[in-house]
Amino acid sequence: MKFKILEKYSKDEVANLFTSVFSSSEGEQEGRLIGKLAFELASRIDNQEIICIGAYENRTMIGAIFFTRLRFDEPIRAYMLAPVAVSTAHQGKGVGQALISFGLRELKNRSAAVIVTYGDPAFYSKVGFQALSEDVIQSPRPLSMPEGWLGQSLSEEPIPILRSRPVCVQEFDKPEYW
Ligand SMILES: CC(C)(COP(=O)(O)OP(=O)(O)OC[C@H]1O[C@@H](n2cnc3c(N)ncnc32)[C@H](O)[C@@H]1OP(=O)(O)O)[C@@H](O)C(=O)NCCC(=O)NCCS
Repeated sequence: MKFKILEKYSKDEVANLFTSVFSSSEGEQEGRLIGKLAFELASRIDNQEIICIGAYENRTMIGAIFFTRLRFDEPIRAYMLAPVAVSTAHQGKGVGQALISFGLRELKNRSAAVIVTYGDPAFYSKVGFQALSEDVIQSPRPLSMPEGWLGQSLSEEPIPILRSRPVCVQEFDKPEYW
């Protein structure tokens, strides 16, 4: 398996992967919603605000992940991990965890300090995420499942307490994702 930092021209391949994976796991409607989100995000990849990494086997994309910048009033380099998908045929073989670990190493190399995500703690705890209180870092929008708000430090320091509510990239700034 190889990992590749993707550019905008991969947007159709990325969107197709997310549509197909989420249609299989969550139903067609969710598949369309997340496929559209992935297309919108991939169309604005700039390797600063929006980073996308693909996992490939024999030149076929078998997984992909997005990291998007969270902006605070404080000068801190923080990212959000979402969404991530591994093709249905390759799930449960460690691809998802390897893709996330590769992405976190890449963010550390770029001096990111904090990563947050919003998902299943049972899965994300395997790659270092812990429950994140909104007293430490608020979510950009009200959460329907506060127990899914997770984070980890990418530096030697613990996650700092940040007072301002962060702003996410515009593609995520919609209530249906929260
Ligand atoms: C979630 C996902 C990215 C994980 O990738 P993967 O390659 O299948 O996962 P890995 O093989 O690296 O890790 C598997 C472990 O995670 C757990 N796991 C996998 N998917 C999970 C899920 N949706 N919820 C909770 N745990 C999950 C498994 O139980 C397994 O644990 P084990 O190793 O102790 O048996 C992938 O299954 C997927 O794309 N699912 C559909 C889309 C989705 O739910 N994306 C995440 C939300 S954005």
